[in-house]
Amino acid sequence: MLRNSVRRYGYVAQGLHWLIVLLVFGQIYLAVAAFGADDPGRESELLALHRPPGITILGLILVRLAWRLINDVPPAPSAIAAPLGFVARATHWLLYALLISIPLVGWVKAGSEGIEVDYFGLFAVANWLGPDPALSQVLRMTHLYLNTALLGLVSLHVLAALCHQFWLKDGTLRRMLPVRDAHP
Ligand code: HEM
Ligand code: HEM
Repeated sequence: MLRNSVRRYGYVAQGLHWLIVLLVFGQIYLAVAAFGADDPGRESELLALHRPPGITILGLILVRLAWRLINDVPPAPSAIAAPLGFVARATHWLLYALLISIPLVGWVKAGSEGIEVDYFGLFAVANWLGPDPALSQVLRMTHLYLNTALLGLVSLHVLAALCHQFWLKDGTLRRMLPVRDAHP
């Protein structure tokens, strides 16, 4: 089942969800490792590794959003109170917004440092800016704050998923996993 149904996410949405989760955690790992690197050469090496997957996330999230717009979206489980359903939907939209804005800011920031991103040796990602240290500083803080917001929202999202799984036991997690419904 490639497409979503009103009961669960299809394989395309599932695949994109979990691939992006892996990439986001990889991004955070590389950025934190760069932050902790003890020599500047190692730091720029790790940041060079961090940039192409960031651009990949931007592409994948746009595909994912387009796929979502042409698919059914499973509604919140009916036992969930309306305000909580609203919080879940708002969290999902904010996650989409962050996964678009974080790589965009990173991309423009690289441009403001005069860096052209080499996309896995395949092509150079366009850079329309010249070096601009003041802009780069602003974008650096923006990238950091947006990432802090992402970590906060992802924690809430994961906590909610675990709550559904172990407390409410309503099968919500299964809707995002390639497993059969418990009660067909
Ligand atoms: C969803 C994708 C991305 C995630 C989750 C992410 C995450 C992070 C995190 C957690 C940091 C450390 C905190 C900070 O200093 O801001 C960071 C730093 C950085 N990121 Fe990203 N990033 C993403 C995309 C990108 C992209 C596309 C680029 C460039 C093309 C980029 C370039 C950088 C650079 C150069 C730094 C070093 C710190 C700085 O100078 O701001 N990032 N990123
Ligand atoms: C980087 C981390 C993550 C991000 C950015 C993320 C993002 C999202 C987004 C945007 C949606 C909404 C999908 C849509 O309606 O189009 C979603 C759904 C979902 N996510 Fe995540 N997710 C992350 C990690 C996780 C983890 C670790 C779990 C499990 C422990 C999880 C479980 C789920 C489930 C079960 C749904 C479906 C919710 C429902 O049926 O209403 N996610 N996720």
